[in-house]
Amino acid sequence: MSWIREGELTIIERFCANIIKAGPMPRHVAFIMDGNRRYAQKCHVERQQGHSQGFDKLAQTLRWCLNLGIREVTVYAFSIENFKRSQEEVNGLMDLARQKFSRLLEEQCFLNVCFAYTSRHEISNAVREMAWGVEQGLLEPSDVSEALLDQCLYTSNSPDPDLLIRTSGEVRLSDFLLWQTSHSCLVFQSVLWPEYSFWNLCEAILRFQMNYSALQKARDSYMEERRRQQMERDQAYVTQKLQQEGLATHGDSRHRRTLLQKCTAMREQRIQGFLQALEHKRVDFFERLCPVSA
Ligand code: FPP
Ligand code: MG
Repeated sequence: MSWIREGELTIIERFCANIIKAGPMPRHVAFIMDGNRRYAQKCHVERQQGHSQGFDKLAQTLRWCLNLGIREVTVYAFSIENFKRSQEEVNGLMDLARQKFSRLLEEQCFLNVCFAYTSRHEISNAVREMAWGVEQGLLEPSDVSEALLDQCLYTSNSPDPDLLIRTSGEVRLSDFLLWQTSHSCLVFQSVLWPEYSFWNLCEAILRFQMNYSALQKARDSYMEERRRQQMERDQAYVTQKLQQEGLATHGDSRHRRTLLQKCTAMREQRIQGFLQALEHKRVDFFERLCPVSA
């Protein structure tokens, strides 16, 4: 039955959206859009048609997210592994991206597209960036931390996803956002991506809501542990400095406190300097990749 549409959602969908929105909502949702080829096979259409419908489903899903107040979405559009597919399929996906990307930019939410991406590659790149910072004298080895690694990832400007959804019944992460999803709600759904519906999205959000307090608790206790570890590292750094000053018994407590504050401020300054240098390095890299003609 076709319900009267008000914007993107039917009356009944809007009604349910309002009920769901009364609970805690994910701010950032990540999707592994899987099952395009199985959908094509099931519907006896060309493989490229499956991908094309998958693309249209993404545009529709973004509008549902917007209606639900979800402002940030990250999608796994193409993994480095996907380059192993036939040349014809890879070319088809690239053509699709070229033709249809601009349409996605019209949607009014943050969309991060992971293209030619794997998480292990992203993490090892972040580790290399920190090693470069130490090598250049911008960082001290003791500045290396999980918090700094967060800031070296491609996703450093986004909060971690609250909810990760994979379609098509596969129950693995396939090297997608491994670092960022350790406290996310993972939802695996059997529907093939081109058949994804508003109701599938609602079901995933309900599962997030049912697990919300446990997820929140795990995230808070991790952040607490991280703060504690940083404090321990700063203390160890100060002890080392005092030993270098010949105050093997750690000096008096006021001197120690002053030194601790100074070391913390200097660490933060070093990290800001390093992150700025990293930003310049990345801008240079992209400018060399796509030179802007004068
Ligand atoms: C997974 O289905 C889908 C992909 C590898 C491509 C995902 C891309 C889109 C949905 C289009 C969006 C594109 C951009 C540029 C944002 P599959 O091919 O693995 O199908 P299968 O699991 O049934 O084999
Ligand atoms: Mg697949």
